[in-house]
Amino acid sequence: MTDNSWNDVDAYLCNVLLEEDDTLSQTLRASTQAGLPEINVTPPQGKFLMLLAQIRGATAVLEIGTLGGYSTIWLARGIQPGGRVVTLEVEPASAEVARANVERAGCSELVDIRVAPALETLPQLAAEGAGPFDLVFIDADKANSGNYLHWALELTRPGSVIVCDNVIRHGQILDAESADEDVRGTRAALELAGSDGRLDTTALQTVGAKGWDGFLLCVVKG
Ligand code: DHB
Ligand code: MG
Repeated sequence: MTDNSWNDVDAYLCNVLLEEDDTLSQTLRASTQAGLPEINVTPPQGKFLMLLAQIRGATAVLEIGTLGGYSTIWLARGIQPGGRVVTLEVEPASAEVARANVERAGCSELVDIRVAPALETLPQLAAEGAGPFDLVFIDADKANSGNYLHWALELTRPGSVIVCDNVIRHGQILDAESADEDVRGTRAALELAGSDGRLDTTALQTVGAKGWDGFLLCVVKG
């Protein structure tokens, strides 16, 4: 199988399993037009996040890394009535694109975009008593994935779900001596997830339109 086949299979899955969605297509177009990198989750992955929120019955969702708000909109669609998504974005320009996309998707009331480095906002959220969050999606700078997982643990409760994107990185995570900060941060997240007694954890490798990567999935133990 080649990367091309992965693309084709993702397109087939979108065709068979996902409805045409002008709002989400427009979100991707607006993000690209604004010059944001095309590193959004894929449509099947976005729907996976929505379904996770539904399965968990989530009312409070925390996203670390908003980018143009594509995954934010999927998450907002998965929360219970009265629920909220708090999403953290370091780049003001990205946050502006996300704000417009979230508005167009009719989700503004459900989404709180906090513009600052997440490692500043996360302790503030803890101090505000903003949690506990039922679902946390970590998808920001990979160098800090371990630090974000640490804060996710502070902001969740037993039964909460924590998902971290991009934990395989085309297999680069095998390199224990890597000088790449993204690889090191990703390995830190995996090693924390595997060693912290508060979590039940697994990871799934994925292929698709974004190549070979994967999700870390954790549940906070009761
Ligand atoms: C990158 C970041 C992501 O969140 C992703 O899903 C894919 C790639 C990146 O920084 O290259
Ligand atoms: Mg990602």
